[in-house]
Amino acid sequence: MDYFLLFVLLLVIFEYPLTSSTPELYYRSCSNQFRCGKIVADFPFWGGEQRPSYCGYPGLKLQCENDTAFIKIDGVRYRVLAIDPPYNHNKMRIAREDYEGGLCPRNIQNTTLDTTLFVISLGYIPLTLLYGCPSFFPFDLLANFSCNNVFHSSIGLIVPGVTGPLVCSASVTVLVHISASTGKEIEQALKYGFEVELKVDDKACQKCLDSKGKCGIDNNQTVCYCLGSSTSLAECPPPPANVPATISLPALPPPPPPAPAAANKSGKYLYFKVLL
Ligand SMILES: *[C@@H]1O[C@H](CO)[C@@H](O)[C@H](O)[C@H]1NC(C)=O
Ligand SMILES: *[C@@H]1O[C@H](CO)[C@@H](O)[C@H](O)[C@H]1NC(C)=O
Ligand SMILES: *[C@@H]1O[C@H](CO)[C@@H](O)[C@H](O)[C@H]1NC(C)=O
Ligand SMILES: *[C@@H]1O[C@H](CO)[C@@H](O)[C@H](O)[C@H]1NC(C)=O
Ligand SMILES: *[C@@H]1O[C@H](CO)[C@@H](O)[C@H](O)[C@H]1NC(C)=O
Repeated sequence: MDYFLLFVLLLVIFEYPLTSSTPELYYRSCSNQFRCGKIVADFPFWGGEQRPSYCGYPGLKLQCENDTAFIKIDGVRYRVLAIDPPYNHNKMRIAREDYEGGLCPRNIQNTTLDTTLFVISLGYIPLTLLYGCPSFFPFDLLANFSCNNVFHSSIGLIVPGVTGPLVCSASVTVLVHISASTGKEIEQALKYGFEVELKVDDKACQKCLDSKGKCGIDNNQTVCYCLGSSTSLAECPPPPANVPATISLPALPPPPPPAPAAANKSGKYLYFKVLL
């Protein structure tokens, strides 16, 4: 090998920043699906062992425990019972973990949803449960129930159209299917959960998928990770056209090996190759 070629080769190798293959690493990670029990999810979700945070929206982190998928929204944990459709998702049904065992959880918290990300589907309505109520209650009731050890009074009430605790010690607003009206039905409706639609940029992701990329998130924006690309893009470029074989160029060095998993955006590494 002559010295000029060696010089060119070294120049190319030393100038080749590792950062250029990061989106490719992201492409590979974001090709993985989150799988847990019956739940399969990809963009806009992330979480589990397989999908790092750059694969989905910050508010859509899933966790898997005992084959059950969970999502935490505003400090409250929900079981994720369905994600529809399984690819390119835009809806999910979730149920409060703390109401799985009945109407009397240990700690009580309101259901609050980030309205920039979630829209409650038609057919589900907020309902307020009142805890620690007096035995005489001067309003129309939908249902009553009793709890042990939650408050000094065990009487719990479900009253249509209220939002605060009124004369009771505490209140919690939950979301249930509109058809639930008796205490038993409300208990079941809480286990069944409610459906939300996700406000995500699916047009941007579809464009990316159509170009054979993988969708992800960078700076709160939907981006596209592509094989062989040096930056995240809106969509992947078409594959390069074949170069006519008649033009003879010095052989290019082989591409650098894939980035180590721990590499991050600020890192710049050198690779040494045996040239002769
Ligand atoms: C998972 O299973 C373990 C052991 O059976 C149990 O202690 C734990 O509470 C379970 N977690 C959930 C979220 O159900
Ligand atoms: C709860 O409901 C039962 C039967 O529906 C009724 O007899 C009872 O008076 C109710 N309790 C309260 C505190 O409203
Ligand atoms: C739930 O929200 C209502 C209305 O904003 C509030 O009055 C109530 O105290 C909240 N409950 C809890 C447990 O924070
Ligand atoms: C992304 O959006 C979330 C919620 O809208 C916000 O809390 C966060 O600060 C944003 N992050 C960046 C880097 O803009
Ligand atoms: C990225 O690199 C910087 C500086 O080398 C380091 O402080 C940081 O912990 C690294 N982050 C990750 C996620 O490896």
